[in-house]
Amino acid sequence: MTPDDFAQLVRARRTSMLVDRDRAVPRALVQDLCDLAQWAPNHKRTWPWRFALVEGEGRARLGEVIADAMELHGDPPEKVTKARGKYLRTPATLVVGSAEGDSPLRTAENRDAVAAGVQTLLLAATAHGLASYWGSCPKGANDVVAELCGFEAGTHVAAIIYLGWATEQVAPPERPTAALHIVD
Ligand SMILES: Cc1cc2nc3c(=O)[nH]c(=O)nc-3n(C[C@H](O)[C@H](O)[C@H](O)COP(=O)(O)O)c2cc1C
Repeated sequence: MTPDDFAQLVRARRTSMLVDRDRAVPRALVQDLCDLAQWAPNHKRTWPWRFALVEGEGRARLGEVIADAMELHGDPPEKVTKARGKYLRTPATLVVGSAEGDSPLRTAENRDAVAAGVQTLLLAATAHGLASYWGSCPKGANDVVAELCGFEAGTHVAAIIYLGWATEQVAPPERPTAALHIVD
């Protein structure tokens, strides 16, 4: 792979939910994406990544637990109703958690490592022709999502990633030029 090929892949990744809703995402492919994510740097080798693939009926259950938590949190009814069916929009949803560390610093570093891994995962998904969409876990829903996914108590839900086979390209949002301070 040339540097240009890599730059092209990085720029090709878009947050998109324009997918073929009827075409399944193979579990083996999602497993490969998760394995690649774990090649990201990870201080003290704590292996903080936690993954759960939500598909089929599980997507409705994910929507239910999130909507119920949002209701408890006091979100407006229309937002709650929307959340119930939200995860049916793509054939697969990958929940990525970050394990709690043995100190606040390690917990923060774990989250950094997990975010780095998520980007690797998104790039690999792009290379396969999958569309991906990194969504946050709604306020108040972290613990119920972690529990549904079988993650340990204290796990931070870092990403809820919608996945599906891309049907359209999405125009990239403009990027500012990176401000690079030179210290010499
Ligand atoms: C930590 C994190 C959380 C995000 N959560 C959401 C979200 O909840 N809803 C959403 O629409 N996009 C979310 N995004 C995606 C961004 O909105 C998206 O990356 C941004 O608009 C730039 O578009 P691009 O990814 O196509 O370059 C999130 C991204 C990150 C890194």
